[in-house]
Amino acid sequence: MTFDRSIKIAPSILSADFANFGAECVAIEAQGADWVHVDVMDGHFVPNITFGPATCAAIRPHIKGVMDVHLMISPVDPYIEGFAKAGADIITAHVEAGPHIHRTLQAIRAAGAKAGVALNPGTHASAVEPLLDMIDLVCVMTVNPGFGGQKFIHSQVDKVRNLRTMIGDRPIHIEIDGGVDPATAPLVAAAGADVLVAGSAVFRGGSVSNPAPYGDNIRAIRSAATH
Ligand code: DX5
Ligand code: ZN
Repeated sequence: MTFDRSIKIAPSILSADFANFGAECVAIEAQGADWVHVDVMDGHFVPNITFGPATCAAIRPHIKGVMDVHLMISPVDPYIEGFAKAGADIITAHVEAGPHIHRTLQAIRAAGAKAGVALNPGTHASAVEPLLDMIDLVCVMTVNPGFGGQKFIHSQVDKVRNLRTMIGDRPIHIEIDGGVDPATAPLVAAAGADVLVAGSAVFRGGSVSNPAPYGDNIRAIRSAATH
């Protein structure tokens, strides 16, 4: 399979109806989502709690494409096997989540998933340099993780540019997470990002019974990023 650096839109189900995850996943994929982004929060690494491996396993059969699991938890390692068994295609851990990100990334690949590393806004791009041969994705947080609907932090665009140069020809995705909408998407796409996570900007105005706005929102972000 060739590595695909074209723009991919990954709606975050953090903004979906929590009582309806299966139907929401079906709806966003039918409306043009490329990946489904799943935000796992523990109330310890971030000040919010979502859900764990059992919910991911329940969602999995409703997703045809890539299930992209973003772990905002600490510790990470005891739960990797559980998320891999739940069917995560990509498991992303934060470099700030513990002292042993190298070991964590090894464990993710050993569990059979693709490995991602996420950087909080206060973490420098250079944190990724020693990890380049063991990752499939870098997630640049453009908000402080924990909640949807926050304002995009513009200082992160330079970090994306740095990472793009650092990555060169390696098959590593650059994912942007937080405050992505049709106004901010072109900034990060021009800086070299290829995966755009969007929660509120995808789910606003729509629902499982009225999914057309999801499609409009996804197309608006994609077209802003590609023109
Ligand atoms: C934030 C999460 C994001 C969040 C993005 O901690 O990791 O995935 O859902 O939401 P928006 O797009 O609303 O900023
Ligand atoms: Zn996320």
